[in-house]
Amino acid sequence: MIDRHRRGSFIMIEWRQANPRVLESWYEKSGVRGSPRRVVSTDDDILKDFFPRHLVTHLAHPAVAETDEVIKRYLLAQHLYQWLNFTKAFEVGVVCRATKLIAEQDCGIEVPSRVRMDAYKILVDESYHALYSVDAVEQIQTRSGIEALPYDFQPFLDNLDRIGADHPRHRRLVQLVQVFVFETLITGLLVDIPKDPNVVSLVRQIARDHAIDEGRHHVYFADFFGRLWGQLEPGDRQVVAALLPDLIIRSLQPATRSASSALREIGFSPAAARSIIAESYDQESVTAGIRSAAERTIGILEDYGVLDQPGAREGFAESGLLDF
Ligand SMILES: [Fe+2]
Ligand SMILES: [Fe+2]
Repeated sequence: MIDRHRRGSFIMIEWRQANPRVLESWYEKSGVRGSPRRVVSTDDDILKDFFPRHLVTHLAHPAVAETDEVIKRYLLAQHLYQWLNFTKAFEVGVVCRATKLIAEQDCGIEVPSRVRMDAYKILVDESYHALYSVDAVEQIQTRSGIEALPYDFQPFLDNLDRIGADHPRHRRLVQLVQVFVFETLITGLLVDIPKDPNVVSLVRQIARDHAIDEGRHHVYFADFFGRLWGQLEPGDRQVVAALLPDLIIRSLQPATRSASSALREIGFSPAAARSIIAESYDQESVTAGIRSAAERTIGILEDYGVLDQPGAREGFAESGLLDF
């Protein structure tokens, strides 16, 4: 799962009150500049959980709950690897792709040089997040002896980009909106993981490091979206407002493909794995989770008047993101 709902004070910088120049202190405060490489500890810390158990929904399914501890540890490890591999691929393939457009003055709107300079800082941050995600996978594989199953980001990316494919003239705009959405969602996982004392320290440390950087990115992208929205033609505003609900929902779908591979790997038949997944991630709770994770993003859209576009509020309601 990309993200889980719930707020945490240290990443909840309220963008309305925040100084949009939040990246001015980047040289002193960013993780890449100020924190050491996180390494898996040499004691028996590795015997702790690889991921908070309550966040791995399929672990609580009766058919999985009755399996032995070795199996559960394997599933936890695979869940962690999936999350880290997804993070790595998303940072590089989606966040950096759009942030580069801003940095290189190719985003279709005029932005001050400070905004472009900050985009370069974010490119560095996101590349570093990708690096320590891969580094953590490598270290944990080595120390635990549990090998990561292959991870394929392409289906997720294709699904996300399909929205832009329907609007080829707006491809660049869609990429910018993608990054705004993802960078303003409530990154609940990053908040919950550091709090769980039963989780391997390396995992908690990188989640905490990541959350602190993302708090600054949130302010930056909320501000950037205001600039973008303010300079769009009426027709383009209409397109953006119409595709946002789908974009939010696709960004937050649980990563059930990887969970299903892990279940099959431990001996469940494809049909059994399918039903465990279907019962663990039912549509109602998935939608409730997405709605909660997107609450802050939708609040920003409200503030900029995006939902006042004709049909926009109805589109959000039809997708289950708002009440009718
Ligand atoms: Fe990041
Ligand atoms: Fe970010």
